[in-house]
Amino acid sequence: MDIGLGLLLLVVSAYAQPTPLLINVEGRQTTSLHGSWAAIVDPFDVGYRTYRNTPDPHGFFRNQRPQHPADRIEYSFEEAPRLEVPGDWNSQRAELLFYEGTVWYQRTFSYTLPADRRLFLYFGAANYEAIVWLNGQELGRHEGGFTPFNFEITQRVRNGKNDLVVYVNNRRRPDGVPTDNMDWWNYGGLTRHVLLIETPRTFVRDYFVQLDPADPTYLAGWVQLDGPERTLAVTLQLPELGLSHTIQPDTNGRGTFRLRTPDNIEHWSPEHPRRYRVELITPYETLIDTIGFRTIEARGTQLLLNGRPIFLRGISIHEEAPFAGRRAFSEEDARVLLGWARELGCNFVRLAHYPHNEAMVRTAEAMGLLVWAEIPVYWTIQWDNPRTLALAKQQLQEMITRDKNRAAVIFWSVANETPRGEARLHFLQTLIEEARRLDPTRLVTAALEHRYINDSTIVIDDELGAYLDVLGNNEYIGWYDGPPEKADRIVWQSVYNKPLIMSEWGGDARAGYHGSPQQIWTEEYQAQLYRHQIAMLQRIPFLVGTSPWILKDFRSPRRPLPKIQDYWNRKGVISDRGQRKQAFYVLQAFYHELAQKAIGSTP
Ligand code: GCU
Repeated sequence: MDIGLGLLLLVVSAYAQPTPLLINVEGRQTTSLHGSWAAIVDPFDVGYRTYRNTPDPHGFFRNQRPQHPADRIEYSFEEAPRLEVPGDWNSQRAELLFYEGTVWYQRTFSYTLPADRRLFLYFGAANYEAIVWLNGQELGRHEGGFTPFNFEITQRVRNGKNDLVVYVNNRRRPDGVPTDNMDWWNYGGLTRHVLLIETPRTFVRDYFVQLDPADPTYLAGWVQLDGPERTLAVTLQLPELGLSHTIQPDTNGRGTFRLRTPDNIEHWSPEHPRRYRVELITPYETLIDTIGFRTIEARGTQLLLNGRPIFLRGISIHEEAPFAGRRAFSEEDARVLLGWARELGCNFVRLAHYPHNEAMVRTAEAMGLLVWAEIPVYWTIQWDNPRTLALAKQQLQEMITRDKNRAAVIFWSVANETPRGEARLHFLQTLIEEARRLDPTRLVTAALEHRYINDSTIVIDDELGAYLDVLGNNEYIGWYDGPPEKADRIVWQSVYNKPLIMSEWGGDARAGYHGSPQQIWTEEYQAQLYRHQIAMLQRIPFLVGTSPWILKDFRSPRRPLPKIQDYWNRKGVISDRGQRKQAFYVLQAFYHELAQKAIGSTP
């Protein structure tokens, strides 16, 4: 291929977008591409651009091999070291722990696709930007490190051996989402599952099945077909409830439904995380999901789950595996992390600061943990940049598309600790409107900041609060804001008649470091901070929950203090090695006391 045509193809296809997202991948016919992939570390992107910084048509994506003795090919996937997929690269090789740049992944796979079937290549996530080639042809690119994307490869897959190359670059970007400044490790790579998904020619790509928020005695929602037979009837069945209903999609493949639920339907709750088998049937497939049904509502300063006031006994969690400084991705990782939350006495988890892997959300739902889900619109995002807004909207859409049928998720959060201002307000209003358009059944929140109106009175009056259903607020009295005992004299006010979740508070402790409660970094200091904070929280009448920062110590480039932090943020109530600190037991006692009261008050 001559350079001109190559460049043209590269430029034209360089902006190919992923195809519309398939949901419920675990309910579909999948082939996992996990395992050992070839991986070339490419800090200068020489595999993608020439010395004149122009796209290189002979880049690594061609996976060329020398054909003649004089052929000069300066890379080789065959000879390259390997990386495990799924998995971040930072934790797999010591020399990559701090690495920020490009890694080229490559593997082959064989496939035989029947004539009447379609095939998709699905990524659970790739941090931060991915470009994908199949058999030397670019499929497209995706930006955003924590949401799924897929490409249809029906016309490009060979019956036999296929060559898959993926460029992943985790460089932080000022105009990115998140921006280039955050307090978590920038784990790069194919951090979640990579799957082949085979479907009928016409299949159910997406659907929404929930209680109608306007009248929860009805199930309401829609199905979205993908394929040539767009008006194919879809039967919705919930066998345990004796429900069967035929949905007639329109010429766009979209079909809606609203049907009365039987009186014996059991609502999902933390105490009783009941889920139902849901079948979506066409002549070509039966797609099965398990879905819980519940209502969530903010009424004045109360939060109502299934019509009853609830207090959220929560904890914040980063997506980092227990006992290992690496991205979590598996069901086993989820079961351990969420098992710790249950052991604390939680009924709620804040999955910070980005959409976690799907196993975390599905495991939370199975275990009866309510979920705060969020996109990484974090700190000083470029509020005036249309590209940044489009990226935030894309990640919000991907998160809601994937998880909208998960009863455990009650909040979509659009921001964390963002500075007040006109451009930020407009940016976030746009996201809030989009969240409500995509999912009218859940509540929208954000982790705000507060201000002091005198040295003992704090007010929550961020103008963004007017557009939220539930207010989140982060505060660090006892850590960044005075000593722990300062909390004893603080009065909280809010200008909104809305529920408040204290979405972050806490302090660091090095597990095993003991001393007086006045000695910073000791477990005693952290435990004392928890005691003062808990006493303060109980004095806030419009508080409906809290998610202290944080379940487990996590890696952070912001925390270099030798022998104490060593590039770990030590605010966990559990250490990175699973050691429960004294604060764990202070919080656990508080939550067990609350749970006893809740049981006592349940009619
Ligand atoms: C902030 C921020 C967290 C951060 C925490 C801390 O509130 O939201 O991401 O880790 O403070 O400073 O430990």
